[in-house]
Amino acid sequence: LSVGVLIVGLAGATANTFVSGALAGSPSERMGGSVLAASGLDPGLFLDESKLTFSGWDVDPRGADEIASAHGILPSAAIKAASESLDAIRALPAYVGGYDTEEARVSEHSRPIEDPQGAIEGVAADIEAFRSEHGLERCIVVLLGPPLRAQPVESGFGDTNSALSSSACYALGALRASCGVIDFTPNVTLEMPEVLEAATAAQMPLAGRDGNTGQSLLKTVLGQMFKIRNLRVRGWYSTNILGNLDGKVLSRPEHRGLKMSDKLGVLEPILGYEDFDHVVDISYYLPRGDDKEAWDNIDFSGWFGTRMTMKVNWLGSDSALAAPLITDLVKHVDHAMRAGLRGHLPHLGLYFKHPLGSPIEPLANSYRTLMDFYTSNDKEQ
Ligand SMILES: NC(=O)c1ccc[n+]([C@@H]2O[C@H](COP(=O)([O-])OP(=O)(O)OC[C@H]3O[C@@H](n4cnc5c(N)ncnc54)[C@H](O)[C@@H]3O)[C@@H](O)[C@H]2O)c1
Repeated sequence: LSVGVLIVGLAGATANTFVSGALAGSPSERMGGSVLAASGLDPGLFLDESKLTFSGWDVDPRGADEIASAHGILPSAAIKAASESLDAIRALPAYVGGYDTEEARVSEHSRPIEDPQGAIEGVAADIEAFRSEHGLERCIVVLLGPPLRAQPVESGFGDTNSALSSSACYALGALRASCGVIDFTPNVTLEMPEVLEAATAAQMPLAGRDGNTGQSLLKTVLGQMFKIRNLRVRGWYSTNILGNLDGKVLSRPEHRGLKMSDKLGVLEPILGYEDFDHVVDISYYLPRGDDKEAWDNIDFSGWFGTRMTMKVNWLGSDSALAAPLITDLVKHVDHAMRAGLRGHLPHLGLYFKHPLGSPIEPLANSYRTLMDFYTSNDKEQ
């Protein structure tokens, strides 16, 4: 029996890199960037990637091999070797509502959400059909769709529930079909009261939100250093240039609000003060594709108020940074499902810019929380 992973945004750069890596690479190639791989925790606690079966939804119906070649993130030899199994992975038509992107709303490979209850039932039926086709033991849904137009957390069902976003329909459908849910996006889905209630009723875990892959992760490390060393931050200017679809969507003011607040929110809790200039900018720059550049300029003062500056320039593949974290998260959520945990998972704060169920903490602290969770569970067993 294997575990099913259904991804919202299956054709996206991050989802496709995760799926292609799971099917195309060797176990040692997949270890780079994985927190779990370096943790020293017993691998026997977690499921093996070879036990995963993939499906999902997207407005792009192409096979995963064609998409992987178009993204060009993994080596072409690896994609070629797994071409047959990748070609079989094609997205189901996406559920698309009023908060979705322009690209999604004009796509023909979609099911417009006219009646959210119908969409929730449709998602659950898609999952059940996949589960019985492959004889799956458990299923996990991973939200990797685009940052939607900001939906108020409380907007929920209301009288007509006409205001429900596609991501809320996916999450509620997933819970109806007894799946754990991971949200790697900046959307508010897993904070909505209806979703929390459904997770309690279904006794299912929720992990989110907004993957902590690069620049914000760096802030959880450097921020602690400035704090411990008592070097007073006067200003922190962060800019990002990226040329993938995520960058294009984030260049639109109506889609970038939550991502900006997640990026801006990570530093103050670590420094313990707010009276400094914190500027974050995200620019869409097509030539870069998935190879993002994050540039940070930090102005700070020390002994006798002496002024100093630090500059950090991180050039990296956005999706290759994210894929191993998603592999880890699937393993954590599968473990939580087997352990009967439900609702937000506080031990997974390390993985998110805006952790649900735990405070924003320096990396060393959130790593300790993660390790303590598994080592104290071990002791109880
Ligand atoms: N890669 C990273 O480093 C990283 C870090 C933190 C957060 N994230 C978030 O993860 C998400 C995915 O990032 P990405 O770079 O893969 O983006 P992407 O734009 O490449 O992928 C999003 C996919 O969702 C699809 N989609 C759009 N509307 C849909 C709908 N209604 N239903 C199903 N699919 C739909 C799109 O067609 C696209 O294939 C984004 O929200 C991004 O902000 C990524």
